[in-house]
Amino acid sequence: MLVRKYLTLIGLLIVPATAIDVPRSNTPYQLKYSQRFTAPSLPEDNILTKERIALGERLFNDTILSIDGTVSCAGCHVSDFAFADDRRFSRGFEGRLGKRNSMPLFNLAWKSHFFWDGRENRLRDQVLVPIQDHQEMAANLNQVIFRLNRRGGYLREFENTYGQGPVTTQKLSLALENYLLSLTSDQSKYDLVAEKKENFTPEEAQGQKLFFQKPSLGGAGCFQCHGGSQFSDFKFRNNGLEHTEDLGRYQVTGKNSDKGLFQTPSLRNIELTAPYMHDGRFETLEEVIAHYNGPPHKHPTVDKLVPSKGLNLSPANQKALIAFLKTLTDPRYNE
Ligand code: HEC
Ligand code: HEC
Repeated sequence: MLVRKYLTLIGLLIVPATAIDVPRSNTPYQLKYSQRFTAPSLPEDNILTKERIALGERLFNDTILSIDGTVSCAGCHVSDFAFADDRRFSRGFEGRLGKRNSMPLFNLAWKSHFFWDGRENRLRDQVLVPIQDHQEMAANLNQVIFRLNRRGGYLREFENTYGQGPVTTQKLSLALENYLLSLTSDQSKYDLVAEKKENFTPEEAQGQKLFFQKPSLGGAGCFQCHGGSQFSDFKFRNNGLEHTEDLGRYQVTGKNSDKGLFQTPSLRNIELTAPYMHDGRFETLEEVIAHYNGPPHKHPTVDKLVPSKGLNLSPANQKALIAFLKTLTDPRYNE
């Protein structure tokens, strides 16, 4: 008994704290989200703290993560647009353009696949991709870590949040993950109506009815893919767009049945995140509805939930559907 106590004591003395231990000086952060959301599975080895979130936010806004100090995460994920970009393709290093539309960032704690094609399963891995992507920040990780160890008091901030020792890639990825997980949006008019604090206009109520009704019953059937509290099932689907060389999920799995499939996006804050679709091909919600209203492009992988003849909604019903979509905007997000 005594021996075991002695060994534990030695163990405590010689095993250094790892990046995943929470320093005592940190204040735990309680994730804020609506009671109507399911509890998210947060990583146990990267407990949210106010200090870690503040460090992640500083990094997110800092061009130090790019090769030539000109591009930050925030440059393509703009807070006014629910952290998406109003440009079809965002400008990265030297103004280089990628092939996909930037994605909004909120309620990421409820997602388990990241990017339009879901190629990353963990946020801490995802965040290292743009830093090294040649169209985006084009940096070399060793170089970034070298700079962070030297500049702007980062070393101390990392030690205060992720333990003693130099800044490492692991610490960087954990700090960005901590910040991204803290971004929650749940105060849209839709949420307030669900909490009986506000009411829909008759047009919004008509749009809601269409959204949640199957096409076979005269509705628009959007809920079949964009359902649940996040307005997405987060499955990979082909919603009938005309294909380009970007074949989405197929590029991850190599399966023919995945050609042209992309992860169903959340429709929360959709009013703020134009242009739309993985390649930003539609500029307005009117164009999006027009796409669903007509027949989908003929392709073997088009989802069975997309009616083969289109929805044929009347102009008034199309307008109502858009009025409903605009109730998903959270004006208090990131205030
Ligand atoms: C040059 C523009 C650009 C920069 C800089 C950039 N991003 Fe992105 N981001 C994008 C685009 C475009 C996508 C979608 C890419 C894809 O699907 O292949 C994306 C996707 C994401 C996603 C996935 C969201 C989801 O719901 O799946 C996250 C998270 C993210 N970025 C975080 C970051 C972080 C953190 C940084 C900084 C380290 C960053 N981004 C820098 C353009 C950018
Ligand atoms: C079969 C499943 C499915 C149905 C039904 C469906 N969608 Fe989608 N929706 C998707 C997928 C998948 C995407 C992403 C497609 C892409 O980018 O290639 C998408 C994209 C969108 C976007 C663009 C989101 C963004 O962030 O760019 C909007 C807006 C949208 N859908 C609205 C609707 C509305 C309104 C309805 C009902 C009329 C509807 N969807 C029905 C699967 C579906």
